[in-house]
Amino acid sequence: MCGIVAGLAQRDISKILIEGLHRLEYRGYDSAGVAVIDPAGELRRARAVGKVRALEDELREAPLSGAIGVAHTRWATHGRPAQHNAHPHLSSERVAVVHNGIIENHEALRGELEGAGYVFTSETDTEVVAHLVDRELCSGLALPEAVNAVTARLDGAFALAVMEQRNPELLVGARQGSPLVVGVGIDEHFIASDPLALLPVTDRFIYLDEGDMVAITPAGIQVLERTGDRDELTPVTREVVRYEHSVEAAGKGEYRHFMMKEIMEQPRVLSRTLAERLDPQGVRLEAFDVSRHSFLAASAGNESGAEGGKQGVDVARLTQLFADVRQVQIIACGTSYHAGMVARYWLEEVAGIPAQVEVASEFRYRERVAAPGTLFLTLSQSGETADTLAALRDIQKLNREGPQAGHYLASLAICNVAGSSLVRESDLSLLTHAGPEIGVASTKAFTTQLVALMLTTLALRQAKGDGQTDDLLSRQLLMRLKDLPHVIEQSLALDGEIAQLAEKFMHRHHTLFLGRGSQYPIAMEGALKLKEISYIHAEAYAAGELKHGPLALIDEDMPVVAVAPMDDLMEKLKSNLQEVRARGGQLFVFADPEVSLKAGEGVHVVTVPGVCRFLAPIVYAVPLQLLSYHVAVLKGTDVDQPRNLAKSVTVE
Ligand code: M6R
Repeated sequence: MCGIVAGLAQRDISKILIEGLHRLEYRGYDSAGVAVIDPAGELRRARAVGKVRALEDELREAPLSGAIGVAHTRWATHGRPAQHNAHPHLSSERVAVVHNGIIENHEALRGELEGAGYVFTSETDTEVVAHLVDRELCSGLALPEAVNAVTARLDGAFALAVMEQRNPELLVGARQGSPLVVGVGIDEHFIASDPLALLPVTDRFIYLDEGDMVAITPAGIQVLERTGDRDELTPVTREVVRYEHSVEAAGKGEYRHFMMKEIMEQPRVLSRTLAERLDPQGVRLEAFDVSRHSFLAASAGNESGAEGGKQGVDVARLTQLFADVRQVQIIACGTSYHAGMVARYWLEEVAGIPAQVEVASEFRYRERVAAPGTLFLTLSQSGETADTLAALRDIQKLNREGPQAGHYLASLAICNVAGSSLVRESDLSLLTHAGPEIGVASTKAFTTQLVALMLTTLALRQAKGDGQTDDLLSRQLLMRLKDLPHVIEQSLALDGEIAQLAEKFMHRHHTLFLGRGSQYPIAMEGALKLKEISYIHAEAYAAGELKHGPLALIDEDMPVVAVAPMDDLMEKLKSNLQEVRARGGQLFVFADPEVSLKAGEGVHVVTVPGVCRFLAPIVYAVPLQLLSYHVAVLKGTDVDQPRNLAKSVTVE
């Protein structure tokens, strides 16, 4: 998705902006651009299609410098990737705008502006913003008021950074629906879509709230809240938060690709996600954070809170809330959705609570009925996924309308980014301490989500346990969880064997993935990984469904990957695999050591470390990640930034 970097400094900003764009590359983009106001007071711009490197080539030919600037990586929505559609967009050589999001009413606004004599040079929705700001400036408004007046007319989602040629000491940002943070430096300040863009220059950030604007001048940062029907701007104080990860955490280290680094980090980040969250009695409810305005806060009304706008949870209230949960509604997208699908099995079997899982983009557009006592659980690595956020906002609106509209008990976000919108807007959050995930293909975020979901499942079981002291299943699961990082390490040791196996996939056009029970979502996740980075068409089926249609696809050209842990469905899965083999299908089975499956003609078996059946989905996800990684490397695709995809999907 589009990425914004902008800043006002006491030195040339252009290099900081370009470095910031490189750091935003992982979000996915097709063109890039930068504009500065140079020392002579001229607004200068450079734009290029393709990688940031292409923009750098252009800047080598025609360098630009200045103390204030805005820069952008564009992921095309309106208008093809082309230089004239790349941001920044200008109006009258006076105003420069970069934008992330979609302006839904841009056609009507474009018509109005063309009627007023503005000439458009792009097909983008963004260009209307530049011209609208220019028109407001011409009417005598100062830049912050002009941007405010314009944003009041925009429908859709946006994060904006705007500067004006006549005022090189003022940078304005605005957010509504798309992420934007302010980087707090010493005598220099910045705006970006993501803190990662600014880590070389600061580790202190202000996470803007929905609807906030910010004005940056040499005198400092002023965050402005829109009040009085949005046309007044009132200064407001927002907390400055220190970023918890180092610059190195966002680097590739010794690895060729971020994806491999992130796969290999899993034992460590799983340990970190578990650390200090377990005690001999079970899951520590203090692991859950509450947002500033949540009724679950330890001391209601105390806004100073802990880091990231969070504060301690009232354990007694949370225990009661968890005891009251009668159903869990899980909402997520992509890989996070697959984590939710695994959790449904756990919630129903371990906690005895019915659970439903749905992709956010479907959930938000249908009439729904919430059963009484429903906990609304969102899952997201980034915490900025537009569909997931919209679903959360939707149910919050319902809650405000009252119980007759379908009341949810509370919202819980399981998320990897502490200051993200999802975390800040949910009642409760449980952070997955995966660290920055840069590769578009989600790996460590997925397995840490699963651990967080198991912790949540156990916390719900505990709360329902009515003080039951000797809960054998909980005790066993806690023990196994502690051992999990070690088991994951063992499954990473399969890397060499899987790299060889990958050769059998590189010339294939299709692959089927099979699993049963809680491994069915793991098969889905394996298929998603393979298709997104190797561009091989891959489908997952619950193995029992084969005979209802997909069996027709099986022949000697169809590789079939199966996940086969030791569980109650093992014998049934084996019969399904026989059905494949009988039709000439090539089997690649990731199996528990106790599953007696013999490798032979057309049957490849990779032995996965033994693990209890509940935690098996976490362990089996890892070899499938490795498989897709090695196939993609052999095919020579762009592993970390696969075509057409974005890391953080901040538009619908
Ligand atoms: O940040 P989120 O977890 O909300 O992102 C959801 C999906 O966009 C994401 O998981 C996507 O499917 C990944 N590229 C999969 O590897």
